[in-house]
Amino acid sequence: MTFVEKPAAASAGMDAESYRALMRHQAGAVTVIATGEPGARAGLTATAVASLSDNPPTILACIQRKSGAHDRIAQMKAFSVNVLASDQQAIAERFAGRGGSRGDARFAGLGWLNLTSGAPVLEGALASLDCELIDRHEFTTHSIFIGRVLDGRFRAEARPLLYFRGDFWDLGRR
Ligand SMILES: Cc1cc2nc3c(=O)[nH]c(=O)nc-3n(C[C@H](O)[C@H](O)[C@H](O)COP(=O)(O)O)c2cc1C
Repeated sequence: MTFVEKPAAASAGMDAESYRALMRHQAGAVTVIATGEPGARAGLTATAVASLSDNPPTILACIQRKSGAHDRIAQMKAFSVNVLASDQQAIAERFAGRGGSRGDARFAGLGWLNLTSGAPVLEGALASLDCELIDRHEFTTHSIFIGRVLDGRFRAEARPLLYFRGDFWDLGRR
């Protein structure tokens, strides 16, 4: 069994490629972050999402500033975080831009509803958190958006979609 496989450049300082090689080992829940109003919606697939506090209930999401959803979230001051179920890999690929669709076209053919914030919420997600944007921190290429969770829903019987070593995984059964 190999415990240590250091990227070549690790001892001489960390370049972006070596960093990505390390982070590929952090298995993550796959989410779709969505915002905007019908006709002007935007969304992306994201794993850089974490719970921040439970009182108040807040969540953070790290989003590339060049992403189509970035400025729409800042304008609308609302977004949803939809944690995907294992049967939603095609949605993850679509919102990662793999089919070439952008903007509102990414939302076509899927069920969306509104809860409290006005942001589009994906029907059938493993869990959805409906958020009001309450703070924002910029760091180089990304912004950290902090959302206060106003509402949410979940699908009790579903399993999560995970991302690990550059591929999608199903957790399987215990
Ligand atoms: C599994 C996975 C996780 C991702 N996580 C993030 C993330 O946390 N933040 C981010 O800004 N982009 C993330 N991306 C990249 C965006 O989904 C992708 O760049 C998307 O096309 C951005 O939307 P745009 O085409 O409107 O720019 C991820 C992509 C994949 C496949």
